[in-house]
Amino acid sequence: MSTLEIRDLHVSVETKEGPKPILRGVDLTIGSGEIHAIMGPNGSGKSTLAYSLAGHPKYEVTSGTVTLDGEDVLAMTVDERARAGLFLAMQYPVEVPGVSVSNFLRTAKTAIDGEPPALRTWVKDVKSAMANLRMDSTFAERSVNEGFSGGEKKRHEILQLELLKPRFAVLDETDSGLDVDALRIVSEGVNRAHEATDLGVLLITHYTRILRYIKPDFVHVFVDGRVAEEGGPELAERLENEGYDRFLPAGTVA
Ligand SMILES: Nc1ncnc2c1ncn2[C@@H]1O[C@H](COP(=O)(O)OP(=O)(O)OP(=O)(O)O)[C@@H](O)[C@H]1O
Ligand SMILES: [Mg+2]
Repeated sequence: MSTLEIRDLHVSVETKEGPKPILRGVDLTIGSGEIHAIMGPNGSGKSTLAYSLAGHPKYEVTSGTVTLDGEDVLAMTVDERARAGLFLAMQYPVEVPGVSVSNFLRTAKTAIDGEPPALRTWVKDVKSAMANLRMDSTFAERSVNEGFSGGEKKRHEILQLELLKPRFAVLDETDSGLDVDALRIVSEGVNRAHEATDLGVLLITHYTRILRYIKPDFVHVFVDGRVAEEGGPELAERLENEGYDRFLPAGTVA
């Protein structure tokens, strides 16, 4: 049983005009095997939270703590965080021309485990993970994300999740731009990882439709850089019906 604990996290982003405070005291605790959904209006800081957890250099933590089983995550480099078991699926995955999916996955697996995967089982694992995600085998030889459609990029994120076996995954709008079949396939991938490894999940989303497939234990409403309300799955339904009006100061446009 592992715990990822975020306490009173304040983060500023680097801009041309100087640092701009975005996160204003985030408190969140995620245990192994728990699924937490974060919903909230555009610009409320959800992706900023994801990037801060991953250690993106543009985001400066000005106060607060993030610990994984008591270990200081904020003191870790980006790759130490990955080795500690943190995984981030980005809202806008980057293209890596010249690096094939197959090479990328093997390099990442080697870096995370500290040794190369056993070749025979690895090739089999990659093949079956790709088949499960209905990814054509030709993807293995294509450059990472180059020319991938939006949905293909998201499947590739989940392929990494299934093969790298992190302890905690932050999925930033993994459902955006997916057709109905892809949404189900990607959700099944997340559920497989969750069941196989007791993965803890932080699922950032705007829509309850993904929550029909991936059942959250907790739903958090993110507004203006912090968690404004917490509840169970019923809170997601309420947000879809009512929007975020009641959380916003009168007169603001979300
Ligand atoms: N590099 C940057 N320069 C200026 N402002 C930034 C930068 N990065 C983030 N911000 C601002 O921080 C705020 C939070 O952005 P963030 O991407 O975290 O929101 P979000 O909740 O993920 O929104 P969405 O639902 O649209 O994905 C926004 O107002 C955004 O414009
Ligand atoms: Mg975002």
